[in-house]
Amino acid sequence: MDTPVSLRRDGNVAIITIDNPPVNALRHGVRKGIQNCVVAARDDASVEAIVITGAGRTFVAGADITEFGKPPQPPSLIEVIATLDEVKKPTIAAVHGTPLGGGLELTMGCHFRVAAPSTRLGLPEIKLGLIPGAGGTQRLPRLVGLEKAVPMILSGEPIPAKDALAAGLVDAIIEGDLVAGAVAFARKVLAEKRALTRVKDRDEKLKEVRANPAKFDEIVAQHVKKTRGLQAPAAAIDAIRLTLDTPIDEAQKKEREFFLKLVGGEQSKAQRHLFFAERDAAKVPGIGKEVKPREVKKAAVIGAGTMGGGISMNFANVGIPVTIVENNADALKRGMATIEKNYQTSVQRGSLKAEDVAKRLALFTPTTDLGAIKDADIVIEAVFENMPIKKELFAKIEKIAKPGAVLATNTSYLNVDEIAQVTHRHGDVLGMHFFSPANVMKLLEIVRGKDTAPDVLATAMAVGRTIRKVPVVVGVCHGFVGNRMLSARGIEAEKLLLEGALPQDVDGALTEFGFPMGPFAMSDLAGIDVGWRSRKERGVRNEIADSLAEQGRFGQKTGRGFYLYEGRSARPDPEVEKLIVDASVRLGVKRRNVSKEEIIERLIYPMVNEGARILEEGIATRSGDIDVVWLYGYGFPAWRGGPMHWADTVGLKKIRDRLHRLAQESGDKRHEPAALLNRLADESGTFDSYGQQKAA
Ligand SMILES: NC(=O)c1ccc[n+]([C@@H]2O[C@H](COP(=O)([O-])OP(=O)(O)OC[C@H]3O[C@@H](n4cnc5c(N)ncnc54)[C@H](O)[C@@H]3O)[C@@H](O)[C@H]2O)c1
Repeated sequence: MDTPVSLRRDGNVAIITIDNPPVNALRHGVRKGIQNCVVAARDDASVEAIVITGAGRTFVAGADITEFGKPPQPPSLIEVIATLDEVKKPTIAAVHGTPLGGGLELTMGCHFRVAAPSTRLGLPEIKLGLIPGAGGTQRLPRLVGLEKAVPMILSGEPIPAKDALAAGLVDAIIEGDLVAGAVAFARKVLAEKRALTRVKDRDEKLKEVRANPAKFDEIVAQHVKKTRGLQAPAAAIDAIRLTLDTPIDEAQKKEREFFLKLVGGEQSKAQRHLFFAERDAAKVPGIGKEVKPREVKKAAVIGAGTMGGGISMNFANVGIPVTIVENNADALKRGMATIEKNYQTSVQRGSLKAEDVAKRLALFTPTTDLGAIKDADIVIEAVFENMPIKKELFAKIEKIAKPGAVLATNTSYLNVDEIAQVTHRHGDVLGMHFFSPANVMKLLEIVRGKDTAPDVLATAMAVGRTIRKVPVVVGVCHGFVGNRMLSARGIEAEKLLLEGALPQDVDGALTEFGFPMGPFAMSDLAGIDVGWRSRKERGVRNEIADSLAEQGRFGQKTGRGFYLYEGRSARPDPEVEKLIVDASVRLGVKRRNVSKEEIIERLIYPMVNEGARILEEGIATRSGDIDVVWLYGYGFPAWRGGPMHWADTVGLKKIRDRLHRLAQESGDKRHEPAALLNRLADESGTFDSYGQQKAA
């Protein structure tokens, strides 16, 4: 029988090896294989100890997520661990890579754990809107104590082997051959006749908090900041709390109930959708493995403003030297000062070591000489958002940049093909659209021009991953995916003010929906003047935002915008309310009560409609790509799965009909449902299934 798990012998020690590439996920055959091998080794009188290990690049990195929501096939991981628990011979998990989730739970069914030095161990279930479901919430606290277990489970972040050793999660770190080291460890345990205490029976580390349960709430309080609206952290806390007073077998049953409820719920489905969507976004049609990215050892960024500074930091942060070019010395000095200040802030926050600041700064070559870009393998332009300026610059870049260099623009809206036309190397040009603050935000829209060469696209994707971004390929159109949909939302937000809502109503509805901030707080943060200037250039007007800008109310930087600011804390301003009410009167709009529900529909349905157009025009490859853009670029709540997934859960027919009514009532043709939305609504389809059809 083809089994991904094998059993061999090294003298008196049985070695069970899990070999299910790529990450030894615990699919049914793996669970069954482990179970069979454990039973065989247990029942073999000549075996005195058992080592469980993983082949390939990692020990078991988790459950097989594709099995979630399908009928369970025995043995469950809980059953496998229960079998391990009853083995009376020493059992040792020998781990490397990333023993995560179910993988880590499996190791906690063993008496001992040994790890390779580079191992990272964790319970990341929370990131998928879940909690550990095979005893993790009960066994981890028994091994490492609640102070350590609570943040591990609530953050989902893995810890390195040396921390795991210090915490008691692993018993030894093995340098060199892991399995040989584990076998030696097993023999030592046998020779020393060490006590074989099951993890489930270890209660020492729980004693202190059990004696003083108020301490549990204190520990939890330190780690629950970001859990607004989320079910999984609440369930995780309830499950961990059971370690205080509930016998472990009973607690495990409850943990399982919590887990199953989460797996079947909308939040985890949404988060699992995003997990797969992010993975799919890395696959670009027409770019197979045979397309090799170009080598990037040196970067150049042009413009040291808001974006250029952040973009260059991304390169320095991963050790890539970066030349940063300005056309005026003062701006260069200001830009470098901001970069330095950002690094100092990281030091103060404890996320960067003081000695690393100098190392990173040493990777920058600040200059006002455009000629300095000549050895860069990639050049990213981040100057003013102005077509003639960008064209003039690209014409110069092309004369200086070395042959084969990737030439990227960070434009937010402009036509990348038009920019490429001024060069004689259209194939080397593409958009790399970062999000502000560029050293923090994870999204990178990679704009594929009509002539962009496949290996240039592959290079941009690879660079994106190297600098720890989530790259998503999009096509050329005004605003690409993210800003094009954002514009649709912005238009409605302003209309809602004229019809009767106030900025705090609109922003409040969106934060309640799960966004970190609403459109008006966001404008105040970015600066109301930015949009105002660009609208003036285009000859358009936003009645309210532009009236505010004309009064010098630019947002946070002037202390006044849609809100009044003391530092960063905002409060509503009666003057703004008056300005809005006056604008309604001036434009003859009768004010009325606008409900929260209407705010959400009016803001997000038009985005979904625009998303549908983006899909039918092929600007985005899959609806999941759009969801990833909104998750990482604009803070769309992960537990709602992104705008397109969310639309699927609302029902496309409901959204289509509402948009149609809105188009008729407002006379605004943009609200007429996109052809794709109409079709899917008629077929009772979803954006997700449409993506799968297309891929098939
Ligand atoms: N600010 C954002 O949130 C954001 C987000 C994504 C993309 N973008 C895009 O990034 C680009 C830059 O935006 P920003 O906000 O950083 O602007 P900015 O005004 O902060 O910085 C632009 C910098 O470019 C410099 N510059 C202008 N012409 C130059 C030239 N020929 N050579 C060298 N330097 C030159 C200016 O001196 C200035 O310091 C724009 O295309 C913008 O649309 C901005």
